[in-house]
Amino acid sequence: MRSILVANPKGGSGKTTVSTNLAGLFASRKYRTVLADMDKQQSAARWLLRRPLELPRIVAWNADTDKKDIKAYDPHWVIIDSPAGVHGEKLADLVRRCELVVVPVAPSAFDMEATLAFLSELRKEKPIRKGESQVAVVGNRVDARTVAASELEAFLKSLDLPILSHLRDAQIYVHCARDGHSLFDVAPSRAEPDLEQWRPIQRWLARHLKPDRET
Ligand SMILES: Nc1ncnc2c1ncn2[C@@H]1O[C@H](COP(=O)(O)OP(=O)(O)OP(=O)(O)O)[C@@H](O)[C@H]1O
Ligand SMILES: [Mg+2]
Repeated sequence: MRSILVANPKGGSGKTTVSTNLAGLFASRKYRTVLADMDKQQSAARWLLRRPLELPRIVAWNADTDKKDIKAYDPHWVIIDSPAGVHGEKLADLVRRCELVVVPVAPSAFDMEATLAFLSELRKEKPIRKGESQVAVVGNRVDARTVAASELEAFLKSLDLPILSHLRDAQIYVHCARDGHSLFDVAPSRAEPDLEQWRPIQRWLARHLKPDRET
């Protein structure tokens, strides 16, 4: 079982969007996938309730879920969506459980400042210091034509961390959130530029994080 934590202290940076799409990606590739929602807002859990039954299965892990049921399901991948502002012991506990922490960052000074402080806290966590867990960033809601996008790019490069991709601001994410879909569930023609932006993420995951067992 491989686990990915999606985290950023800023509200609205794209944690649930990235989490639900990562879960949809793995499920579409026929991996047994669990989406754990650690946020009281339960946006990811509710997205899963809206998910049409005919789509590739993603199992929910909420506060009421019996851990034995998750163990019995024997997932290949667990994606953890975390709340804004997670830090301290709670963050340490989540990082201990994950091989990868994905940090979505939006192109704004407020987001970049908050992310910088968060990353320095993350770097102090033992699994990350020891190289047992990795941190990678994803630019989110990036309009490549803007100054803000160039500033984000410079900021991300300065971090000396893998930059998995830049995701554009696109209505398809809003529609998918509404419908319980991920980009990997809709007709490719509806999501082509966005699927293209997820390809480097897929390649990076394939290179760096292999599931325990292939299906
Ligand atoms: N790339 C994108 N393009 C368009 N809309 C987006 C994109 N990413 C996120 N959104 C929208 O922005 C809003 C905030 O995104 P999301 O809920 O994923 O952030 P979050 O970090 O999980 O927020 P919170 O901290 O409140 O949990 C949502 O309405 C989502 O649909
Ligand atoms: Mg969220």
